[in-house]
Amino acid sequence: MRLYDEFAPWFHLLTHPKDYEDEAKFYGDELERAFSAGLAGPRGPRRVLELGSGGGNNASHMKSRYAELVLTDLSAGMLELSKTLNPECEHLQGDMRSLRLGRTFDAVLIHDAIEYMTSEADLRDAFETAWVHLQPGGVMLVAPDCVRETFSEQTGSGGHDGDGRSLRYLSWDWDPDPDDCTYQTTFVYLLREGGGPPRVEIDQHEHGLHPQATWVSLLEQVGFRVEVRHTPDWDEEHPSQVIFVGFRPSE
Ligand SMILES: C[S@@+](CC[C@H](N)C(=O)[O-])C[C@H]1O[C@@H](n2cnc3c(N)ncnc32)[C@H](O)[C@@H]1O
Repeated sequence: MRLYDEFAPWFHLLTHPKDYEDEAKFYGDELERAFSAGLAGPRGPRRVLELGSGGGNNASHMKSRYAELVLTDLSAGMLELSKTLNPECEHLQGDMRSLRLGRTFDAVLIHDAIEYMTSEADLRDAFETAWVHLQPGGVMLVAPDCVRETFSEQTGSGGHDGDGRSLRYLSWDWDPDPDDCTYQTTFVYLLREGGGPPRVEIDQHEHGLHPQATWVSLLEQVGFRVEVRHTPDWDEEHPSQVIFVGFRPSE
């Protein structure tokens, strides 16, 4: 995926940190709700791990809520970008399917990066990673862009102006085979530097598309007690979506 490699330095012009403010507040509140409702351990989330933290956009709004927010991602370029926004957070490179830090946290967050789990085995491995990094009584929140039941083929567009450069994009979600557990997103980027004309680049992403029951079943197989929740209806392009809160029971 070129976006997380050669175009990583452009990521904040595709999706700007300020666009994440409401969402990040919602996820932070959801984690606190899980603790204060007595669904998790008695202590609120103080030490939090994010898997697939990308450009650190969510993190930039959430970090002030926690004593420690550790950010991990597969891409070195995305971690470098996130460090510019979140210099006070620890950044570590690793695959969410196999990362083992040898320490535990009160909460684990996986946001849109979970979309890159294109098989049930990958999804289960990511849940296993979350489980081993949670202390008993800890909570995982996983917030996919969609599940099979809420997927629709759609296009998006946007972009931002930065310091001497600008990006605009068109994205198109399409599903070549409704019977398998993936869909495709094709991105076209218009990248403009200095006063010159934009250059055009294309990028192809494969995403996982799993039924809600599969998410719940895989979480339960790993050991989580699962609660299905929903995001608010943000706007027409971002309607309410299913999210999953997983509780690692206290021992
Ligand atoms: C859309 S970005 C995440 C943006 C993030 N929510 C934010 O707030 O900036 C998706 C990220 O998933 C990461 N990713 C994809 N597959 C991964 C894997 N197997 N393990 C860890 N990170 C992964 C990519 O490198 C990319 O940074």
